[in-house]
Amino acid sequence: SYHESPCPMSLIPINAPFPATRLRRLRRTPALRGLAAENVLSVDDLIWPIFVMDGENDVHPILSMPGVSRLTLDRAVDAAKEARDLGIPAICIFPYIDPSLKTDDCALAWSPDNLSNRVTAAIKSAVPEVAVMTDVALDPYNASGHDGIVREGVIINDESVEALVKMALAQAAAGADILGPSDMMDGRIGAMRRALEADGCQDVAILSYAAKYASAFYGPFRDAVGASGALTGDKKTYQMNPANSDEALRLVARDLSEGADMVMVKPGLPYLDICRRVKDQFGAPTYAYQVSGEYAMIAGAGAKGWIDEEKVMMESLMAFKRAGCDGILTYFAPRAAKLLNG
Ligand code: PBG
Repeated sequence: SYHESPCPMSLIPINAPFPATRLRRLRRTPALRGLAAENVLSVDDLIWPIFVMDGENDVHPILSMPGVSRLTLDRAVDAAKEARDLGIPAICIFPYIDPSLKTDDCALAWSPDNLSNRVTAAIKSAVPEVAVMTDVALDPYNASGHDGIVREGVIINDESVEALVKMALAQAAAGADILGPSDMMDGRIGAMRRALEADGCQDVAILSYAAKYASAFYGPFRDAVGASGALTGDKKTYQMNPANSDEALRLVARDLSEGADMVMVKPGLPYLDICRRVKDQFGAPTYAYQVSGEYAMIAGAGAKGWIDEEKVMMESLMAFKRAGCDGILTYFAPRAAKLLNG
């Protein structure tokens, strides 16, 4: 009946005017909205992934990532200067390796003067204040396109870890500030941490790709690093099943216990629930990777005029902050920084 039905009026103190709580009050002006904002996105939160290639004074646009190009070493140094000028704290390097240089033993991965290591050293000498993050995984160097060593179609965990440790030490020697193991082999964080300590590199940070899913959102990245053609099969035996969430917490716990300084969830927007659970459970520095496919969806729809690209970009980045992330790896980093700097 009328008298029994729940009514919002019943929640209001007897003599208060209706409605007592007007949540719209603090949304009325920009000043009030600013005061009431629960989260802030700042340039300090951004890590800018760049693709590098051999050659000089050249760029190669990546068709599936409108606005993103592979850069030669000199252009990568320019990008690092741009990062410094914009206040972006870190750049992350991904090398495009010529197919003729890819092998089954992936030996180029730990060569002291491979492309990635040369770019790291060049950036650290020209722009030492920008942190350089590197990718620890064998896929750019692997004839099979996999992140680990493959024998008879199987990715061999412990042998891959040995290779990854050599790769990590070479990157640290080149001057990397942050190592980003994105390979998902078991035990690699502990093995790397022990080797870094033994090698006098105790201050090199590890940002573990702890919860990295076997995702279709990496497609454009594989174009960018030239791994799409090479990849045989998929990465489901080492990257996570998108159905899982508790497993992400076990991976983060494991990697932190093995010596990771920071942890990552990847991809980003489709996995914000994982970001929130990781941050709540561990309180460790937590990052999300807004991956190539997420970038392509926003930049592609933006280029068509189907969405307001700039607004969607900023809203998506704020979503990571709301989910508890301390920072975001995003190809939008320079554009977002320009907007944030006004
Ligand atoms: C591979 C690696 C991948 C990405 C970063 N490191 C792709 C993969 O796992 O196949 C994806 C990044 C992106 O999509 O932007 N070690």
